[in-house]
Amino acid sequence: QAQLPEGYKLRALRKTDYDAGFLDVLRVLTTVGDIPKEKFEERFDWISKQDSSYFIIVIEDTNSSPPRIVGTGALLVERKFIHQLGSVGHIEDIAVAKDQQGKKLGLRLIQALDYIAKQTGCYKTILDCSEHNEGFYVKCGFRRAGLEMAHYH
Ligand code: ACO
Repeated sequence: QAQLPEGYKLRALRKTDYDAGFLDVLRVLTTVGDIPKEKFEERFDWISKQDSSYFIIVIEDTNSSPPRIVGTGALLVERKFIHQLGSVGHIEDIAVAKDQQGKKLGLRLIQALDYIAKQTGCYKTILDCSEHNEGFYVKCGFRRAGLEMAHYH
């Protein structure tokens, strides 16, 4: 397992992370939009009710004051009928702040989410990514499998 730099902590997302720059980290990944605090908290509460199915983790840099979120990732556990009631882990929304990339934070996020997937009984963990990120996921132990299709609404 990769080590985190001194003062960096990996933990579950908290409601107070709105003020620690959680959404700004996601902005390196894609459009986030303007989300007021109460809407963030509403969504946080909804996600928190999805017992053992939805995990959002963050990496916090406690060296900066106040501490700030520098990385995040999510795991959704899908419980199936096939494969003898098997479960599949879906990794989503991996992002590391621009000025923090290249410190193995991304690798650490993937390792943590894959560990949760294994602990919750998932027989595999899957994700979609761009060609540009293939090398990163290969270094995390993933390999190309299948083809993604999308229907945007
Ligand atoms: N292509 C090839 N190799 C890469 C890439 C890449 N794009 N990015 C990192 N690597 C390598 C690193 O060099 C390192 O290799 P090493 O072990 O030989 O030194 C290894 O992968 C681990 O890299 P980390 O330092 O852990 O990567 P980082 O913390 O910078 O995070 C990430 C990588 C998450 C892709 C980051 O660059 C990022 O946030 N990018 C913008 C958002 C994004 O594209 N997220 C992924 C979307 S896909 C999804 O969410 C399922």
